[in-house]
Amino acid sequence: MENTAEKKNVVLSFVQSSGTPTIANYFGAFKNWHGMAVENDCIFGVADLHAITVRNTPADLRRRSQEMYAWLLALGLEPEKNIVFLQSHVPEHSQLAWILNCYTQFGEASRMTQFKDKSRQHADNVNVGLFTYPILMAADILLYQADQVPVGEDQKQHLEIARDIAERFNGIYGETFRVPAPYIGKKGGRILSLQEPEKKMSKSDPNVKAFVSLTDADDVIVKKIKSAVTDSEACVRYAETKPGVNNLMTIYSCCTGKDFDAIEAEFAGKGYGDFKAAVAEALVEELRPVRSEFERILKDKAYIEQCARTGAERAEAIARRTVRKVMKKVGFYQV
Ligand code: TRP
Repeated sequence: MENTAEKKNVVLSFVQSSGTPTIANYFGAFKNWHGMAVENDCIFGVADLHAITVRNTPADLRRRSQEMYAWLLALGLEPEKNIVFLQSHVPEHSQLAWILNCYTQFGEASRMTQFKDKSRQHADNVNVGLFTYPILMAADILLYQADQVPVGEDQKQHLEIARDIAERFNGIYGETFRVPAPYIGKKGGRILSLQEPEKKMSKSDPNVKAFVSLTDADDVIVKKIKSAVTDSEACVRYAETKPGVNNLMTIYSCCTGKDFDAIEAEFAGKGYGDFKAAVAEALVEELRPVRSEFERILKDKAYIEQCARTGAERAEAIARRTVRKVMKKVGFYQV
């Protein structure tokens, strides 16, 4: 990618490998990644090192990492053009993370709200990895001299600390890291729980009716949409007081590209039954090709391995250069 005559923007994003992705991951991130990959040089990674901040069984970690990588391939992210890889395949992530640890203050890492939330959720396993998680994420970004990083609301603070670390290091040693900016792309949909539409949709929700997973069969998707919580007004319109209907409108809009005015007009005078049927149908049509591509790719282990190996080699070629530069600047004796 570094040989292209005209240097394009480097856009980088990673996804955690902690379970089957939902339509919230799909509309909030994946679908936009596809658009980004057309216009930029993109680096997409599966953040499997981040996954061990919570306990996993080895077989699960392996399977989930491989499956998440297969999802990235199924999205059509073109591994020949873009770099698509797994974080643990490139040792420079851990290497740079250690160095950056020493340029991050305990106090600033302590302010991360995700750390506070997660240490409450996993009170029995508040490990140091959970604490230094954002520093590994900073390494992910800074290794590749990324210009832009698309991040959701919950990751904004982590991008901010990555920028702070980069600026601090550059301030001490001179220009070393490109300081990454948030990527403001086409607005993706923020998809909420189908059962409690005040909360965000989560794959770890104990109520499986609250989320649509990307592996759900067509009839399961239809059932989940039909049992989504709405309200008693029986009018399809977007309003602050109607989170359930807003959420279904967002899903419909993400599938069809129609805006809310068009959706209100389309369902004027119709009830929620008709509306939900249309949402379900649009969602089934949207997900079917991605799911079948995923299933096809997952069977082709040789293809997955070959892509992962090539992706890691290309990623490492860039990462190695950054680490060498950093080590030289810090003053490690290099031979
Ligand atoms: N922490 C991110 C998340 O949970 C995943 C992630 C890891 C990431 N490394 C990254 C995102 C680098 C962007 C850039 O969503």
